[in-house]
Amino acid sequence: MSMTKLIVGNWKMNGLLADSKARAQQLGSAVAATKDAAFEMVLCPPATMIGAVVDVLAGSSVQCGGQDCHTEPSGAYTGNISAAMLKDIGCTHVIVGHSERRQYHAETSSLIAAKAAAAHAAGLVAIICVGETDAERSAGEADSVVAAQLAESIPLSATSENTAVAYEPVWAIGTGKTASADDIRQMHAHIRAKVSEKVTSGGAQIKLLYGGSVKAANAAEILHIAHVDGVLVGGASLAADDFIAIAKASAG
Ligand code: PGA
Repeated sequence: MSMTKLIVGNWKMNGLLADSKARAQQLGSAVAATKDAAFEMVLCPPATMIGAVVDVLAGSSVQCGGQDCHTEPSGAYTGNISAAMLKDIGCTHVIVGHSERRQYHAETSSLIAAKAAAAHAAGLVAIICVGETDAERSAGEADSVVAAQLAESIPLSATSENTAVAYEPVWAIGTGKTASADDIRQMHAHIRAKVSEKVTSGGAQIKLLYGGSVKAANAAEILHIAHVDGVLVGGASLAADDFIAIAKASAG
């Protein structure tokens, strides 16, 4: 299991410039003041705020990521943003295949693999999201659904250096319902086995994140489950105090 936990804040479509800059500033200072940090922090603001957040974080160890990217580096794709553009503005990471993209933008796993490959080509770490719905879990299909998503969403270019996988059960996102420690342990062991099979170049070292209603109160327990190498946090990443408490729960 890797020692440094990856703590990713997905701000989704929230905030405006002033509060985003203030939050990034507060997090940058809090991380700088944290001795022997056992974590690496990445903030994923809405696209319009990335430049300002990168500027605020200059000189800090806190990194910035996009929430999505296109498969192509440039072209006639009105409204889209390429991985190369994210890299150019100072991002180090990009989330691809979030369930909200799969659900509201009909993104398929093969499209997500192409986006992750584009992220790799641009020099970004792709955070590839997978996770089953409530109905799929109730039908006993969680393992097979996640295995299929992993098989189809991880591109051949994936290595332990350029890829993280986030397990986010859809029913736990923004609902206040977290998967039980046993469910997370079982699913992360399953994901570790599948990713190790699929990624021959360091698959056993790829960081596996859990996401879905992570908060300060449950972060320590989740972050200490085997094969949980970090967390992907939505709602609780919008409050700097809560998010830093989650990151600090990596220690020990
Ligand atoms: P949540 O969102 O922490 O608000 O449940 C997680 C996510 O969607 O990445």
